[in-house]
Amino acid sequence: MKDLVVVSNRVSIPEAGRSQAGGLAMALNSALARHGGMWFGWNGEICHDTSPQPTQTRRNGITYATLPLNAEQHNDYYLGFSNEVLWPIFHFNLGAMKFHRHHAQVYYATNQHFAEQLSKLLTGDELIWVHDYHLIPLGEALRRQGSHAPMGFFLHIPFPSAELLRCIPGHRDLLASFFAYDLLGFQTPQDLETFCHAAIRILGAKRSDNVLRYGDQRLKLGIYPVGIDVDTLQREAQHSETKQAVRQLRTSLGGCALIAGADRLDYSKGLGERMLAFEHLLDDYPHYRRHVLYTQVASPSRSAITEYDDLRQQLESQAGHINGLHSDLDWVPVHYINKTYPRTALMGLFRAAQVGLVTPLRDGMNLVCKEFVAAQDSRDPGALVLSELAGAAHELEGALLVNPYDPHAIAEALDQALQMPHEERCRRHASMLASVRCNDLTRWWQRFLDDLGYAVSS
Ligand code: G6P
Repeated sequence: MKDLVVVSNRVSIPEAGRSQAGGLAMALNSALARHGGMWFGWNGEICHDTSPQPTQTRRNGITYATLPLNAEQHNDYYLGFSNEVLWPIFHFNLGAMKFHRHHAQVYYATNQHFAEQLSKLLTGDELIWVHDYHLIPLGEALRRQGSHAPMGFFLHIPFPSAELLRCIPGHRDLLASFFAYDLLGFQTPQDLETFCHAAIRILGAKRSDNVLRYGDQRLKLGIYPVGIDVDTLQREAQHSETKQAVRQLRTSLGGCALIAGADRLDYSKGLGERMLAFEHLLDDYPHYRRHVLYTQVASPSRSAITEYDDLRQQLESQAGHINGLHSDLDWVPVHYINKTYPRTALMGLFRAAQVGLVTPLRDGMNLVCKEFVAAQDSRDPGALVLSELAGAAHELEGALLVNPYDPHAIAEALDQALQMPHEERCRRHASMLASVRCNDLTRWWQRFLDDLGYAVSS
């Protein structure tokens, strides 16, 4: 078996003797543990060097080769082109795009720098698996460095329509750079189809089943919906019931039904629309007043970008407005929390909730809704209100699907969820749990790596 090299923009090195917190990180670590290998990427720090160099750390048999970004790379590659051009466009938000030619240049230069640093660490006998939009041109840059390794790329976020993609200056080169990989993985069939359509229309690529040809390059495509580690999360959720903080949370509900959401504070998550929906629920269904609470955790993210900071202020004002208008001396309807919690705490929150509210305006997959499903007590599960524009909507047929742009429709779905009979909740939950189990985290990476091996041998 070849060694595996995982490359992602952000790498967090597990603390010695402790398992990795994030679900995806756990999956990639387990893939690395099985194959042996290395995880390469940004260590989250900013330095003054013009050419930051990686340092290597060994943990649990895996090498973590991480490097800082310098200020220009952080500003132009990470904040600028990755998160002010690719992120908004790939999430269908043209209005949030801020293009600067220099940012695009630094994006390509940083990918080139990563490729040069990574090449020095390769033996030539690895499988390389690159993750997400920050690193689209990395494969091409590695090929320029002379790598012939099997190389796969997985896009965690949605792929935009050809028309939106065309709004990015230089989109042809970006699109063509995908063809340096052997296998390209998407979350949903729609993403695969929009990619093919764009490649055919913009580049003139030729398609035969799930293989695209462009010049003499051949790219295999596949669908690999990211999942969760169901057993571990179920254990954590069950265990949470013994924890004091979760017991206190349940007591503090005072018999009110709990609607819960937990997201990164990102404009793609539809948090403003959710607040409006909750306000409509209190206005249009006044019998819920004093009988329902909405807890929204919004963990700070990319706060150096104006849109994110504006959103934070907007949500504070919306939560303050609802509470100012509707609270009573002994009841505060919105519990808005702008901080990051460990996953175990969120599992406790989800287990205590009657309704999970997950309404992104656009999302590649969204693992929060899957975590909510795993957190439920199947003898008395909560209901899930889910955006039909999240990738997970393809899998979770037992959810109440809503258009996330329509706060009245979300309020109606909240009402339906809050009144849902026990038998219906159990039936819907069983179907969602079965589907979450079927596409779990291990299956995700195993299928991708099997197909990558196959893509280069066929
Ligand atoms: C999304 C992206 C990931 C990214 C994460 C956190 O899930 O798909 O690639 O790592 O957000 O964002 P950040 O900018 O903090 O790395």
